[in-house]
Amino acid sequence: MSKAVKAQIIGWGAYVPRRVLTNADLAQMVDTSDEWIVERTGIRERRLAAPDETTASMATIAAERALASAGADPLAVDLVIVATATPDYLFPATACLVQRGIGAKSAAAFDLGAGCSGFIYALALGAHAIESGACRYVLVVGAETLSRITNWQDRGTCVLFGDGAGAVLLGQAHSPGGILATHLGADGAGADWLILPAGGSRKPASAQTVAENLHTIQMDGQKVFRFATKIIPDATRKVLEQAGLSVADVDMVIAHQANARILQAASERLGVPQEKMYANIDRYGNTSAASIPIALCEAADEGRLQAGQRVVLVGFGAGLTWGAVLVEWGEKIPPKRDLPWLLAALRRWWAWLLRRFRR
Ligand code: ACO
Repeated sequence: MSKAVKAQIIGWGAYVPRRVLTNADLAQMVDTSDEWIVERTGIRERRLAAPDETTASMATIAAERALASAGADPLAVDLVIVATATPDYLFPATACLVQRGIGAKSAAAFDLGAGCSGFIYALALGAHAIESGACRYVLVVGAETLSRITNWQDRGTCVLFGDGAGAVLLGQAHSPGGILATHLGADGAGADWLILPAGGSRKPASAQTVAENLHTIQMDGQKVFRFATKIIPDATRKVLEQAGLSVADVDMVIAHQANARILQAASERLGVPQEKMYANIDRYGNTSAASIPIALCEAADEGRLQAGQRVVLVGFGAGLTWGAVLVEWGEKIPPKRDLPWLLAALRRWWAWLLRRFRR
């Protein structure tokens, strides 16, 4: 019987901008309060990109950190997928800017748009590319600059969002575990619930679309809330069923960080204790496609993911879309400090230098 190849997360890295916007800062901008925001969302502060930062620049730093944590050579990467709803341009793809920035000259690159579920979609596709034998190393990035599409006069949405990026490097699993199962879904019936109405082919940018604020996020918060509290448990159960496992077999759930009350409702419906539901929404708000990889990186760096532990990554978002990926965490194999490692480190350093000079 042939041994099936599994994909594994072998490197990870995140980046969040330095600038912190607190609830007190927001209360100076719109009619809101720290108390309302904390009670209704769990958010205390979020990060905002500096004027010279973009989705591609943050994604590139996260990608470089993921490569460095695996000790991997950028030239070994076969595919770069960037999940984002806030690309630098409609085209070229932000993934191509990242590919250039990290010096991954052998890689194909494309963007993936599935709203806040984008990272989960990209991770599932990246894993399948490795399982099929088409790719050996896939860089999967979730990155957003939501501050550029936020209506800073709308208190119903502007308190929710933040900027940042997270990345993982997928390779072949050399030890037991890896990506065990994936589940993706969509329901276009809810397409209008969460939408950026203008700037595409239906409503190209014009003085009128700008005047009407149609280049900012429009959301029916309550409908999205109800959808989220149902879909997180449903998607989590589906992905576990595929692997013949149950909720009791899970060590951690990392769900899209949209609202602490959504996380709490999902944990109750799933019967997963709160301490197993990873939460960092208090510090970053909702960073859309970046939220799950940023949380994953933090959990891994805090030593909360040990070899053999099972983690469900589960997201939902505009589309509507949703998805879940079940990962059995592997041993961290420290990079061998040999000649190929040194060459890879030099290449990463060279790509970093080029990026600095281009800015
Ligand atoms: N400060 C003070 N009051 C506010 C604020 C604010 N920032 N925002 C709304 N309010 C007011 C409303 O005007 C309303 O007042 P009214 O009763 O006088 O009309 C009252 O608070 C209640 O408003 P609701 O919208 O009912 O508040 P709710 O408890 O539903 O919370 C929220 C709103 C936080 C947006 C919630 O619905 C939510 O989190 N929804 C899900 C959002 C989400 O997950 N979006 C993203 C998913 S995909 C992606 O990430 C892109």
